[in-house]
Amino acid sequence: MKTVMFGDQSVPAIGIGTWHMGDKSNRQGDEIAAIQAGIEAGAQVIDTAEMYGNGNSERLVGKAIKKFNRQDLFIIDKVLPENASLAQLPKHLEASLRRVDTDYFDLYLYHWRGSIPLSETVEALQAAQTTGKIKRWGVSNFDLMDMEELLAISGGNNVAANEDLYNLGSRGTEYDLQSWQVDHHIPFIAYTPVAQGDRFGQDLTTNSTILEIANRHDVTPYQILLAWSIRNGNVLAIPQSSNPQHATENINSGDIELSAKELSIIDDNFPAPTTHAPLDIL
Ligand SMILES: NC(=O)c1ccc[n+]([C@@H]2O[C@H](COP(=O)([O-])OP(=O)(O)OC[C@H]3O[C@@H](n4cnc5c(N)ncnc54)[C@H](OP(=O)(O)O)[C@@H]3O)[C@@H](O)[C@H]2O)c1
Repeated sequence: MKTVMFGDQSVPAIGIGTWHMGDKSNRQGDEIAAIQAGIEAGAQVIDTAEMYGNGNSERLVGKAIKKFNRQDLFIIDKVLPENASLAQLPKHLEASLRRVDTDYFDLYLYHWRGSIPLSETVEALQAAQTTGKIKRWGVSNFDLMDMEELLAISGGNNVAANEDLYNLGSRGTEYDLQSWQVDHHIPFIAYTPVAQGDRFGQDLTTNSTILEIANRHDVTPYQILLAWSIRNGNVLAIPQSSNPQHATENINSGDIELSAKELSIIDDNFPAPTTHAPLDIL
């Protein structure tokens, strides 16, 4: 299974997203089963946020992980921009930890840039890290210019990851951001890696090239999208699924090796960017 390094810690390159999960009580059984199926298939990373359902996703994750050893998991949580101040961040971190029912997060992300000065947020994240309640911190929805600004701030070079939208239908970050992150040893976390099941009308999973490659590997087109997204070794993908079978397939995609020829055919159909484009954000 492909892996990604967070400093000296290696984690499987496919994790579990949880946006929109935990909101409806009649769906929670399937949702918990899906998260557990993903972990049983080998996932370690679970991505949640205080924003998701106002804490519902965090509570669901808390229930789903109860039967596993905490040290075998890598939990990512996120603080909302308006809460990322020196005064507010510690309280919001505490509340998130309580909802997930854990003592620490492996990675705590600044969800997207707001109006609080970046230097204050970095100071608050650095302070949180010294308490041991977060093992490392990172950012989300940052483009290259944001990352360069971050690294110029005192403590900013302690950033452990950047989480951005990335899938076959949205390759803009490949132009400069992803290679910059490789050069700076900062893992790239790909959110919405299967384009929410073609919700944006990109028809990725019904594309004939993707279907043909999926047939050749005897897997689903979703699995090819995921195998493609993690092909370079610095990307962690966090697909969301409320279906245990899909969740298992998603994690198993970490074992699929796409050949150079297959990657080149995919490039012909979904060309890599040739200029800088504004960051895609959900
Ligand atoms: N940092 C940020 O700002 C940010 C923004 C957006 C998302 N995220 C994170 O990234 C995660 C993933 O992104 P996302 O939830 O937007 O979209 P996504 O993972 O691209 O797509 C989720 C959808 O795809 C379907 N799906 C997933 N795997 C499948 C499979 N193997 N076969 C068939 N259908 C499949 C799911 O349906 P089923 O339930 O039927 O499988 C679900 O409807 C989020 O949950 C969240 O944790 C972060």
